[in-house]
Amino acid sequence: MEIIIKQNADMASHASARVVARLVREKPNAVLGLATGSTPLMLYRELVRMHKEEGLDFSRVTTFNLDEYIGLKKEHPQSYYTFMWENLFSQINIKPENVHLPDGMAADVPASCAAYEQEILNAGGIDLQVLGIGSDGHIGFNEPTSSFASRTRIKTLTQQTVADNARFFDGDGSKVPHHCITMGIGTIMDAQMNLMLAFGAGKADAVSAMVEGPVSSMMPASILQHHPLAKVFIDEAAASALKLSNYYRWVYDGKPEWQRDA
Ligand code: GLP
Repeated sequence: MEIIIKQNADMASHASARVVARLVREKPNAVLGLATGSTPLMLYRELVRMHKEEGLDFSRVTTFNLDEYIGLKKEHPQSYYTFMWENLFSQINIKPENVHLPDGMAADVPASCAAYEQEILNAGGIDLQVLGIGSDGHIGFNEPTSSFASRTRIKTLTQQTVADNARFFDGDGSKVPHHCITMGIGTIMDAQMNLMLAFGAGKADAVSAMVEGPVSSMMPASILQHHPLAKVFIDEAAASALKLSNYYRWVYDGKPEWQRDA
């Protein structure tokens, strides 16, 4: 894992946007895996700016989102479909037919999950997957004890995640759907690159467990220790519980110019 500690969330987000932009410039038909939540918002804002001011071209890019709530219509204000269109897709030149999210209203959920996996394969696999981390260590909606071999499927949220996400539903946990469709951990691990973002003191314990703790399904994000190309962009607050933070800074500061993409 490469740990990139920046002074604040804005700087970390901008650094991560440079990695995404470099891929899109080098491979205009890149396949991006995207995440929701508050964490990637600044990354998406920066990608929009790069599109508008620097001509970053998404016309051949394909995207697959990690997850979606079950039972929310696309047009629901808290569906991840709405989130992605509001915060990114409507502001860049991506083709609507190249955008994919799990279908939270599917009549046959297992069939739609299998079809989602097939669509990822048909697109050539995910080049770069954006990830956030839940306070309980989840990635996508792969809650603790999710199988490391799992593929896209239905999951039940933990009470902790329902409580965490209630802030998006007028603070009312009873409005948060308890079920979701999420890419599996096996799906996420198949991405060529994983780009994890985590900001704020509330994520410090999850980040230290993910980076420096044992690999365990109790901390789903810890599986990224087994990924050959996982970059973790964090701010000082999220880095505050890391034992080897000085080493990570030393590594980053000493990188030769040719290895620098952020
Ligand atoms: C949500 C999403 C995750 C996200 C995480 C953290 O439930 N399913 O993909 O990474 O929780 O959210 P936030 O970025 O708002 O802290």
